[in-house]
Amino acid sequence: MKVLVATEKPFDKKAVEGIKTIVKDAGFQFALLEKYTEKTQLLEAVKDADAIIIRSDIVDKEVLDAAKQLKIVVRAGAGYDNIDLAAATEHNVVAMNTPGQNSNAVAELVLGMMVYMARGGFNGKTGTELLGKKLGLHAYGNVGKNVARIAEGFGMKVYAFDPFVPKNVIEADGLVTAVDTIEDLYRTCNYVSLHIPATPQTKNSINKALLSLMPEKATLINTARKEVINEAELVEVFEAREDFKYIADVAPANADEIAEKFPGRYLFTPKKMGAQTTEANINAGLAAAHQIVGFFTTGDKKFQVNK
Ligand code: 3PG
Repeated sequence: MKVLVATEKPFDKKAVEGIKTIVKDAGFQFALLEKYTEKTQLLEAVKDADAIIIRSDIVDKEVLDAAKQLKIVVRAGAGYDNIDLAAATEHNVVAMNTPGQNSNAVAELVLGMMVYMARGGFNGKTGTELLGKKLGLHAYGNVGKNVARIAEGFGMKVYAFDPFVPKNVIEADGLVTAVDTIEDLYRTCNYVSLHIPATPQTKNSINKALLSLMPEKATLINTARKEVINEAELVEVFEAREDFKYIADVAPANADEIAEKFPGRYLFTPKKMGAQTTEANINAGLAAAHQIVGFFTTGDKKFQVNK
């Protein structure tokens, strides 16, 4: 049984060592493909793999076709929009994620980027504080909950809307006020932080109509996926309101245009780095390895996402 770690953006060495130990202790073979630059490298590496651990690496039909022995692919992380789930099912491949394992890292980045932007990118000029400001969490999953916990420490007033989580469940944590509609969330909050997955329903859904509802000094924070933003309308919002700022992990397709037209009002990471901490790499990487061992030894499919 061969377990391949295929990560264009590598895990911390400690995470790789941890995965290797779990795999070898289970009596399986371990293989590593890091920092690959061509898809052909991935296609070659997956040929004889029974299991693959990936991050944001694309596992599409071509990869699945090449991976003749493959039984399971685990996305070490939350979002699995990089896996063609229908093709995985057709190929009899179980797809899993490792929910919650990197959530704190993403949440810390949210607050870190908010502070950076509120302080003008640490430019020495007068900025603003987060204390007392209203923060809206667009979706209340693992990352949203962690953001709420940290934002409470900053003394922010935290609100949330999640179409899949009832208000009483959201409020049971005692951290946030749940609002009735998505419009209410945007209408209420100076800061809105996105924690929605990229799905056919959410792609392009963060648009001018929603962003125009935000009160004065609006900042949108996106550590989810760039695909959920309507990027053309984002520019229109930048143009229509001088108080609007956008923080994103990672840059939109029209980043150059935004950088040129709206200096000081945006912050883009060069590479998606929400989950890029040693701790998150270890949490998600080791969880993925344990899930693979569990799958092969006891048939455990708890975190399967292509059911
Ligand atoms: C996730 O969905 O878990 C995050 O976006 C992390 O992605 P990464 O593993 O590519 O850093």
